[in-house]
Amino acid sequence: MAKVSIIGQGYVGLTIASFAADHHEVVGFDNRKSVVEKLNLGQSHIEGVTAEELRRHLAVKSYMASSNSSDIADSEIVVIAVPTPLDSNRKPDLSHIESACRTIGENLKNPALIINESTSFPGTVRNYIKPLVEKFSKQSLDHLYAISPERVDPGRVDWNQKNTPRLYAGLTPEASRRTKEFYSTFCDYLIEVSSPEVAEAAKLFENTFRQVNIALVNEFAEIAHALGISVHETLNAASTKPYGFMKFHPSAGVGGHCIPVDPTYLAFVASQKGVPAKFIERANEVNLEMPKYIVSRVKADNGGSLKGKKVQVIGVSYKPNVADTRETPAELVIAELHAQEANVTWHDPVVKSWKGSDSTELGGADIAIVVTLHDILDQAEVTSSAAYVFDTTGKLNGVRGL
Ligand SMILES: NC(=O)c1ccc[n+]([C@@H]2O[C@H](COP(=O)([O-])OP(=O)(O)OC[C@H]3O[C@@H](n4cnc5c(N)ncnc54)[C@H](O)[C@@H]3O)[C@@H](O)[C@H]2O)c1
Repeated sequence: MAKVSIIGQGYVGLTIASFAADHHEVVGFDNRKSVVEKLNLGQSHIEGVTAEELRRHLAVKSYMASSNSSDIADSEIVVIAVPTPLDSNRKPDLSHIESACRTIGENLKNPALIINESTSFPGTVRNYIKPLVEKFSKQSLDHLYAISPERVDPGRVDWNQKNTPRLYAGLTPEASRRTKEFYSTFCDYLIEVSSPEVAEAAKLFENTFRQVNIALVNEFAEIAHALGISVHETLNAASTKPYGFMKFHPSAGVGGHCIPVDPTYLAFVASQKGVPAKFIERANEVNLEMPKYIVSRVKADNGGSLKGKKVQVIGVSYKPNVADTRETPAELVIAELHAQEANVTWHDPVVKSWKGSDSTELGGADIAIVVTLHDILDQAEVTSSAAYVFDTTGKLNGVRGL
């Protein structure tokens, strides 16, 4: 059993905390006091970690949430699980990692193993996290550093922390050994790679693979429509090939909050080395154009104008059954509808409140655009919620769609 602190108690950090707390004494550190208060009352704010699990850990004191940085002081292991978004210029924003390094540097009293789980570009552990922790440390401590990129898919139950293979690499053999020792307590498949840079790059490439394939299928959806054939039937037909083909689905976005972001981290380091990342950039463009394309289809079907029409967007999170709205395509769909002077409302029983407005009752609009179809939505009710329904998910029958 080790004393483990996990910096960031969001989708990644709380999930890890919940698994680790079966074997270790865990402090879940988060700078959002409201989140910490709820966690300590046994209230989970993310899908995939239940209130029962949380309460079980709290009852035996194997977990406590904290926003008091001195609570991490005697940790033997610290896991960094903070956001790594893009800044306003769509460049990597490592400010949360920097602030986590400050918390770690200023508070740790003894040498510890510091593992990064946040997604970032190759070289982040070696050239960014280690120097920053050392800069903020009040005393010289010989910490170990490692990376183990996170692969959690929020809301998914078949692949979880236990059975999803996990990559890892330390800056030193001792860091690798200790990292393996830690994760083996709750993960069955650990794969060591030769350097932290390989693990960091593998994570970015996994998501870039999805991003470019989703862009390809989104582009194909437009081609199929222009050809007057069903994109879904064509994809189902192609999927009958037992090798050399993997099915991706067209949609308003890319179905993941990391998918639009992570490839940009790869493109950023590529450009620093003078290598053009043409596929990544083109894929980003194609995916970001989808909301406009969808609205243009809806407009064409509705007499060539959406001015003054009541339009309800159904489902505003980035994928079904989660409340996460980061990088959601619904935002771009709504912006385009506003540009077309439509009168827009949204309905989402999972998100409920978003960007200063609330979910409205399902129905009551001239047009419905289904962006994300949560399982708790009744498909028949969605299908009959407006006289004209456009489905971007490919799941509804008898309505217009991609
Ligand atoms: N969510 C996913 O599906 C997923 C999957 C794989 C990898 N990742 C990566 O994992 C990282 C974390 O993502 P997430 O989805 O858990 O984010 P999140 O927003 O759900 O959670 C991050 C938490 O960190 C807290 N935080 C931010 N800065 C902090 C600081 N300096 N000190 C303490 N707490 C701080 C925030 O308050 C928040 O609660 C990102 O790099 C992301 O790209 C996410």
